Amino acid sequence: MNADQVREFRAQLEAAEWVDGRVTAGRQSASVKDNAQIPENHPVAREVGAAIVAALERHPLFVAAALPMHVFPPLFNRYAGGQSFGTHVDNAIRQITGTNHRIRTDLSATLFFAEPEEYEGGELVVEDTYGVQEVKFPAGSMVLYPSTSLHHVRPVTRGARLCAFFWIQSMVRDDVRRTLLFDLDMAIQQLNQSVAEAAPGQESPICNGVAVQLTGIYHNLIRQWAEV
Ligand code: NI
Repeated sequence: MNADQVREFRAQLEAAEWVDGRVTAGRQSASVKDNAQIPENHPVAREVGAAIVAALERHPLFVAAALPMHVFPPLFNRYAGGQSFGTHVDNAIRQITGTNHRIRTDLSATLFFAEPEEYEGGELVVEDTYGVQEVKFPAGSMVLYPSTSLHHVRPVTRGARLCAFFWIQSMVRDDVRRTLLFDLDMAIQQLNQSVAEAAPGQESPICNGVAVQLTGIYHNLIRQWAEV
């Protein structure tokens, strides 16, 4: 999100009503969760949430990485005064409040609304197969990580950490397959880029042919692995 969007949405969020964050936690996570949230059906949460989802649908890197089928309407949390969220795994299935619609949480997302220097602590710490990742991004930036990961939020000891958080059900449930598709997609895009940048007369018919072949393989793997 750009700086203007972040400023406008943040002002709306800060003026909204905030409640105890345990309202959306499962039993284990409720025992380690200490933060504030905007109620799920609050009009500001719905409006800013819809703008986030619309921005993601136009974001090619998000679409390539998540291969999204359903995006849970974003929720909003705030940590201040030493608040934290201890180690947990997100619930596997979430019902969208007020509907019969349930989504499987394949990917978790956190979008930051405060600049890192505005608060002390508040790192999102994700333990995945590649080790421990610490995330504290600039306002307007988002991290996407596998919902199978254990994770926690470090205590915020100065200032306030304001974020949107939500989940994505992917068309490709398996992290390994989704990662292979993402890597293949990125490689094809690099190849297409170098084909497009070839000087007149320097075009390589082999590169063109390989790009077409790899694009075919990408789509055929999606056909094998995707649910729609
Ligand atoms: Ni979580």
